[in-house]
Parts: sequence; structure tokens; C-alpha cells
Amino acid sequence: MDDAHNRLINPEPRADDRLDQALRPQNLSELIGQNQVKENLGILIAAARQRGEPLDHVLFYGPPGLGKTTLAHVLANEMGVNIKITAGPAIERAGDLAAILTNLRGGDILFIDEIHRLGRVVEEVLYPAMEDFALDIIIGKGPSARSIRLKLPRFTVIGATTRLALISAPLRARFGAVYRLDYYDLPAMQTIVERAATLLNVQANPEGVTEVARRARGTPRVALRLLRRVRDYAQVRAEGAITGAVAGEALSLLSVDDLGLDDVDRLVLTTIIEKYNGGPVGLSTIAASISEEPDTIMDVVEPYLLQLGFLERTPQGRVATRRAYEHLGLPFAQTQQPGLFSP
Ligand SMILES: Nc1ncnc2c1ncn2[C@@H]1O[C@H](COP(=O)(O)OP(=O)(O)O)[C@@H](O)[C@H]1O
Ligand SMILES: [Mg+2]
Repeated sequence: MDDAHNRLINPEPRADDRLDQALRPQNLSELIGQNQVKENLGILIAAARQRGEPLDHVLFYGPPGLGKTTLAHVLANEMGVNIKITAGPAIERAGDLAAILTNLRGGDILFIDEIHRLGRVVEEVLYPAMEDFALDIIIGKGPSARSIRLKLPRFTVIGATTRLALISAPLRARFGAVYRLDYYDLPAMQTIVERAATLLNVQANPEGVTEVARRARGTPRVALRLLRRVRDYAQVRAEGAITGAVAGEALSLLSVDDLGLDDVDRLVLTTIIEKYNGGPVGLSTIAASISEEPDTIMDVVEPYLLQLGFLERTPQGRVATRRAYEHLGLPFAQTQQPGLFSP
């Protein structure tokens, strides 16, 4: 079993997140938080509508569970167009992409999730499609082979990625609009939990909402998952009502601490501190010492620990900060990290 993937606070989608579909905001006005992105998208949509043109190609990036897929659907709803959904690893050959492209209708949105995982050859088919709405096909083999150019309808690519750095420069350059999604602040998380509780018909008082929101690491997908587990606990142990105390007990029982860290997060930190003297230590070394996928640490564990100021990235590797020691209740010895003093 892949423990990391089954973690309650893993922001990557899991099968039991199906319910979230019903909770997914459908249009811009239902979206909570991400105000700057929302405002920019509003302008993008209005401008395209005024010109009677499809949307520019849009790229969303940021950690999992923050709303990239949701935003792609919202854009389709706001524009009143079809959305075709695929993912980088699903498009194996150039022919697969050609089949998708030739089935698009004018104005359609093609959503490519995990777009950083597109193969090179496939990517090269995508360039002219995005830039000139053209598909170059090679007909025949050997010396008699020739290339013909098919015209495609004007369509919009929406790409999503957790790893902007892995997107090649030419691909990135073809997106007219690139937006970064960030962890949500507490007020936004509270509103998200409150809205979900209402939609799920769960009774939660403001303290209960806050307790769930606070431990959800700024990630809507995690908030919804925690809310479901807390709802179970409340149902079985507290007559259904989620109060601050009930939420706190439920989440502590699930090993999610008051900052939203779980066992894997704590293990990463204690490993750096106890095995590597607080660091610096490379990410792959950390991953190997706790038998974890480097990708999981990179996408899921590290961004949140950086955000909390528990980790620092240095050219020599990751360093645990004083705050991390304090959170774990471990003594901090500054001499362990020459020249690096955490705030
Ligand atoms: N801005 C938001 N407001 C309310 N709920 C949101 C928001 N963004 C995401 N969600 C909820 O969080 C869940 C995960 O979002 P999703 O778009 O699948 O994330 P990503 O594609 O970035 O991994 C969605 O099912 C949706 O219900
Ligand atoms: Mg997604």
C-alpha cells in the first residue's frame, strides 16, 4: 500500500473525493478566494466575449487540490462551451493528440491536466495547433512522404501543472495567460468549509468550521476530506454537531495536528533534524531515508512546509528552521546551521 497516497491530507485526488464534484463551484461568482486570479479571469472572459472569440490559451499552476481543474470547468461554463478533458500521460502518441484535436469544435476547451508530462513528440504537434490552429500530418513513408496541413477550428487549451519548471519554454510561450494558484488564507478556507457543510447538510458551528479550516493546509480538497471525516466522528460520537472541540478531537485521532501536519510531514522534519542534524540535506536523500517517493515529497510535503516556514531551501539542500524544531518540541541548537538563522 502506498501510505503517502492514502494520507488524509494528501491533496492529490482520491476515489472517495467523488463527492467533491457536487461541491465544485460552477462559475466565477461561486469561487472562493484566489481573488487576483478571479479578477484576471473575469477580464479575460469579458474581453473574449466582446470580441466574439474563443479564450486565449490558459495555464494554471500550483500545488494539487487548489482548484486548477475547477477553474477549467468554470471557464467552460462562463464561456458556454464544451470542455474535453485529458491529461499529459494519457496522450501517448502524436496520433492520439491528432484524434483529439480533429474532434474539437470551434470555441471548445481542451483541458490538459499534468501537462508537464506530455511527451516531446506530442508537444511538437501541439505547438502549431495552439499557435496557428493547424495540424501537420505526414502522409506516406520514406522519400515519397509529404506533409499536409489540416486546418483546425479555433479552440482553447487550458493546461494545468504542479510543476511549472518542467514545462518547456516553447510550450509555456504558447499560453497567453499563466496563473499561479496559491494556498488559501484562513478566511477563504473558513468560507469553503462553511459552504461545504451547508451543501452536505452538516451542522457545524463557527468554531467547528474554523478548526477544520485551520488544519486543512490552505487546500480546498483537503478541507473537504477533513470535513467528511469530522462529520463521521460527530455523527458517531457527538450527535452530529461539529463544534471546535469535536473537530479537534476527530482530527487529532486522525493524527492531523493543529497546523494540518500529519505523520509523514512530521517524519520528514524529524528525519532532517535527527538524522541529518537539521540539514542541509538533499530531497532525494530524505525521500530514501523514509522510503517515500521524491515526487510526493516535492509536490505534497515540501510546498506546505516551506509555506509554514518550517523548511528552507538552500543550494546545499533542505534545512529545518527553528520554527520546525519548536513545533515538534525539539531543542534547537543554532550552531548546527552555521549562518542560517530562521525567523
Ligand atoms: N476556489 C474554490 N472555492 C471552493 N471550492 C473549491 C475552490 N477550489 C477548489 N475547490 C474544491 O476543491 C476540490 C479540488 O479542486 P481541484 O480543482 O480538483 O484541484 P486541482 O485540480 O488544483 O488539484 C474541488 O472538488 C472543489 O470542490
Ligand atoms: Mg486537478
